[in-house]
Amino acid sequence: MKNMSTPFYNPLLSYEDNYQQGPFGDFIAPPKSVVTANNTSRFLNLAVDLPFGIPAGPLLNAKYVKAALAYGFDLCVYKTVRTKAHKSHPLPNVLAIHPQGKLSHQVDVVLADTHYQLPVSITNSFGVPSFAPDIWQADLADAVSAAKQGQYVIGSFQGTPGNEATIEKDYALAARLIAETKAPILEANLSCPNEGAHKLLCFDFDKVERVAKEIKNAVPDRSLLLKLAYFANDDAVMPLLKKLKGVVDGFSTINTLSASPVDKQGNPALGHDRPTGGVCGEAIRWAGLDMVQRLARLRQALDYHFTIVGVGGVSTTEHYLAYMAAGADAVMSATGAMWNPHLAFEIKKALNRQ
Ligand SMILES: Cc1cc2nc3c(=O)[nH]c(=O)nc-3n(C[C@H](O)[C@H](O)[C@H](O)COP(=O)(O)O)c2cc1C
Repeated sequence: MKNMSTPFYNPLLSYEDNYQQGPFGDFIAPPKSVVTANNTSRFLNLAVDLPFGIPAGPLLNAKYVKAALAYGFDLCVYKTVRTKAHKSHPLPNVLAIHPQGKLSHQVDVVLADTHYQLPVSITNSFGVPSFAPDIWQADLADAVSAAKQGQYVIGSFQGTPGNEATIEKDYALAARLIAETKAPILEANLSCPNEGAHKLLCFDFDKVERVAKEIKNAVPDRSLLLKLAYFANDDAVMPLLKKLKGVVDGFSTINTLSASPVDKQGNPALGHDRPTGGVCGEAIRWAGLDMVQRLARLRQALDYHFTIVGVGGVSTTEHYLAYMAAGADAVMSATGAMWNPHLAFEIKKALNRQ
């Protein structure tokens, strides 16, 4: 088994402490030499060194984004922000999980603890915290300006019920605030529970269509990705694709699979008020790959032209290549990268040898 490195996000500390004190591990010091892919790719009509990066989540602020860019993660998504400050759930926010066999997409009961093992699977439960725009806008602008040639910082955001007159208007306001930071690409998160714990916005197709159109009206000059959850079959996602034809530029998928993490005694490991949590890492790669294959197949069958960002369980070069072979235009790793900050360099070195 490979040795565990210190993750750049510390699961034992609160979100606020990670925000103030992080990043940790090798992300503290930028690398002395840089590895490039030597073969520029296209992503949403932009030239990117390697279409690989870190999705919304572990990059909490500009300090994290700058470290990730320095380590060759060429597509860095700044953690999802909101139009008003929103508190994080208390600890625990991250726990190791140990599924027996393959994790399903039907809210399995899984053992959760602080025993992290490679390849890592975790549950994460933050409640999508955000600082107020006057804090995150300046910080995101700083992160955006740190990207070198062939690198891009993506602004992830979501609406909050009650912040504006409608959730659609709040998504649009968040998009405008992100656009002001000069982030070149927007990503609307539709797959974290934000209107009741069991209801993901991406499953309400009429609402998604309204949200996407409102965002595009507000910010017509920026590429828009939608972050989607796992859809278990073609028929389940086809109507959504049809509604969004020509409205959005692509999809980032998957977010997490929902599960019920429990401790050794069978009690909810995240606390009684949080019986479920999103699972990410090794245990969900099958679902990310399945979803990317599904979208790529439907894109071809319908002759549509959207971009696909493959996410879920990527921790090796082989996983990156498997997602690209499945039809992804770009690949991202959250859990894998947290425990292996050298992952982008490893992939670039491996591709240079091919
Ligand atoms: C610590 C952590 C925080 C996350 N926060 C967000 C978030 O704010 N917004 C979002 O869209 N996804 C969030 N995610 C989900 C990731 O973007 C990604 O979809 C998921 O972790 C699957 O990728 P992985 O298996 O490489 O971790 C988070 C993931 C982790 C590990």
